[in-house]
Amino acid sequence: MYTHEDLARLQAQSLKMQGWIRQQTFSPENAKRLRRFSSWEVSELIFGINQSTFRGRLAADPSLPGGEVEPDGRQRWFSLEEINELRRRMKINRKSLMPPRPSGKRAVRAAVANFKGGAGKSTVALHLAHAAALDGYRVLCVDFDPQATLSHSMGLTDVAEDYTVWGIMARDLIRETDRMNAGASAAASGSALPQRRIPQSIRDMGLDDLRHADFIKSTAWSTIDIVPSCANAAFVEFASAQYRHLNPEWSFFAAVSRYLDDLADDDYDLIIFDCPPAIGYQSMNAVFAADMLYIPSGPGYWEYDSTTSFIGQLAEALEDLSHGFDGTFPAGKMELPKAFRDIRFLMTRYEPGNELHRAMFEAFQKVFGPHVLEHPVEMTRAVEQSGRFLSSVYEIDYREMTRETWRRARASFDRAYSEFRGCVQCVWDDL
Ligand SMILES: Nc1ncnc2c1ncn2[C@@H]1O[C@H](COP(=O)(O)OP(=O)(O)OP(=O)(O)O)[C@@H](O)[C@H]1O
Ligand SMILES: [Mg+2]
Repeated sequence: MYTHEDLARLQAQSLKMQGWIRQQTFSPENAKRLRRFSSWEVSELIFGINQSTFRGRLAADPSLPGGEVEPDGRQRWFSLEEINELRRRMKINRKSLMPPRPSGKRAVRAAVANFKGGAGKSTVALHLAHAAALDGYRVLCVDFDPQATLSHSMGLTDVAEDYTVWGIMARDLIRETDRMNAGASAAASGSALPQRRIPQSIRDMGLDDLRHADFIKSTAWSTIDIVPSCANAAFVEFASAQYRHLNPEWSFFAAVSRYLDDLADDDYDLIIFDCPPAIGYQSMNAVFAADMLYIPSGPGYWEYDSTTSFIGQLAEALEDLSHGFDGTFPAGKMELPKAFRDIRFLMTRYEPGNELHRAMFEAFQKVFGPHVLEHPVEMTRAVEQSGRFLSSVYEIDYREMTRETWRRARASFDRAYSEFRGCVQCVWDDL
């Protein structure tokens, strides 16, 4: 017979191994570092201009950042900061290289969600974030998944649970309860309204004293920040159920949305959520805060099956919220009933040469029509091989693998990103 103590012992053994693997896979400083990008990549793949035009511009204006020159060759290598400076300062045919961004509007929020495990959510979230940053956007990622794949991939491995979505939710519970209590005692009927009590143990955690910025961590990419997750945040689902019991009127699903509402409109351009493979308190927060629902799905029949039940269960959960909080919900930037400005299905791990995959893609299109994104993300060894800490194809130096494999992988993610970018523009038009 085995009890929780045996499980805890097994976990302790596993944690030791985990520590060892981390030491082996991280650079000596134990920090993920972003590589430089070659002038070929910067001109043709990032700015979409001719390489010789780019070289000409750099030669003509010595005040522009010139990158680092390879010891043996002509190729120059640019940091992300240098790329962003070039983007701000260079014009090509009098056209700016800055990506379109309406002023006075807030960041567009996209949730990458599906309760199918391994559908490619974290891979898609990571690649969209990196592609957007290379396109000149400022990105905030929110990791809602205690598996913390996205946080680890972005180099954050030592995160305390206070600084995760759980911290945001617990802080929100305290603040919302205080707000409701104040409202109740100020009302004409006064003491007739019940006062909700938050146990001292929750207040004593000091979460209410955390500032907004405390939850946001920087990453190896200077224009990508993240609200990270960690394995310890796995108890959020239990804790949230308990918190709801303490204050049944607490709109638990809107905690993260309220948190994001307090960001300045121009702090970020895009906010990307990576969701856990489950419908629960965390994913409901992600979904509620999102303008856009991005649903990745693999090309197999079972994946189609579970994507279908995912949208069914999500529909039910959202309907329950609408009824349960009808009329009592304080309006923020999101409202009830929850309405998305866009819903898209993105096929992942797709092999164009595989007849079955093509048939499934057609089936998706037949059923979901224009909600299916035109460009599936292809199955690629570039991502498979990136190791324990997912690295995006953008992070991997193309000299480390067959150039053709890298180019194909990058082209596939680029196409997926450019469709995403189009969807984002439509949401901005709509906001
Ligand atoms: N396009 C791709 N080509 C090759 N491998 C891929 C691709 N997309 C995802 N994978 C691999 O599939 C596995 C699952 O991907 P990922 O972690 O992104 O899924 P997920 O939906 O986030 O999983 P979970 O539900 O556990 O959070 C990973 O090992 C990843 O490397
Ligand atoms: Mg994941």
